[in-house]
Amino acid sequence: MQRILIDTDPGVDDALAILYAMLSPELQIEAITTVCGNVPVTQATQNLLTILDVLDLDEFPAIAQGEAEPLVKPLITAAHVHGDDGLGNVSQLRNTDGSPLYPPANTSVLFTSAVDLILEMVTRYPDELALVALGPLTNVAKAIREDAAKMQRLQKIVVMGGVFEEYGNVTTTAEFNIFVDPHAAYEVFDFGVPIHIAPLDATHQVVLTGERLHAEIGKREDNISNFLKDATQACMEFYRQHVGFWGFHIHDALPIGMLTHPEHFESVDAYVQIETEGTLTNGMTIADLRRERRHPNPNARVCIKVAAEAFLDHFFKRLY
Ligand code: BDR
Ligand code: CA
Repeated sequence: MQRILIDTDPGVDDALAILYAMLSPELQIEAITTVCGNVPVTQATQNLLTILDVLDLDEFPAIAQGEAEPLVKPLITAAHVHGDDGLGNVSQLRNTDGSPLYPPANTSVLFTSAVDLILEMVTRYPDELALVALGPLTNVAKAIREDAAKMQRLQKIVVMGGVFEEYGNVTTTAEFNIFVDPHAAYEVFDFGVPIHIAPLDATHQVVLTGERLHAEIGKREDNISNFLKDATQACMEFYRQHVGFWGFHIHDALPIGMLTHPEHFESVDAYVQIETEGTLTNGMTIADLRRERRHPNPNARVCIKVAAEAFLDHFFKRLY
């Protein structure tokens, strides 16, 4: 069983990744921390609790709220993709009696701070814990700044972020998670703990169409099915209008699959660098993936190929 800590900025695809991870017996989720990104961090925390409520848990994993601002840049969010509340505007849905369908959660369950919780977990499980980063890397960089020796005892960091041979999704050259906080990404990739990365080049290979999603949900009326229906509409509409298909990419679910079913993913070693200065290339991830040009001292394993159908089948098998 792999122990993990998830750092996340929910986000519709973060929500699917969290549900997938929570329902994967191969994983032991020791803690979940929130970070600013798709939405401001207070909303990210609220969303995390809404997502966990869908699962009707007897006991929550340890949870902490993290950084509200990137290290240097002002925060940019992605409400245009994920809805104003980050979860497809589920917070606006009402029961017939007018009460909220997804009531605001009680945040008193929160641990002190994300950095403290990350450091506590890596101290409790030295060399055993994978940190799964599904948002900007601000909390991770701050934890490294706070106590690098403790953070060296992470087994690995699994990142959704970056893009190498395709266009970016914020600018022509940058992917959202890295673009939001390139300075944090720079520090994390420079740190020396093994990094596995699912860039857009990999996540774009997995297309969850609206047809497939609705076929899987079918006539089901359980909590997970209702949440999937409610949370994904706005995002799928955005993709229909701006990306050209009805559906979406479930980016953040890939790092979870990489941990539970590595046989569906092909990766190469690479030396990944982050552009923090460029005006046109800010937040760009750079690595030469050509076999003959591989770096002698790689700092990451970059996922380049996904068995998309096998992965999606497995994803739905876990959800249902
Ligand atoms: C990443 O950006 C966010 O909007 C998603 O949640 C994902 O983590 C994809 O570029
Ligand atoms: Ca995310």
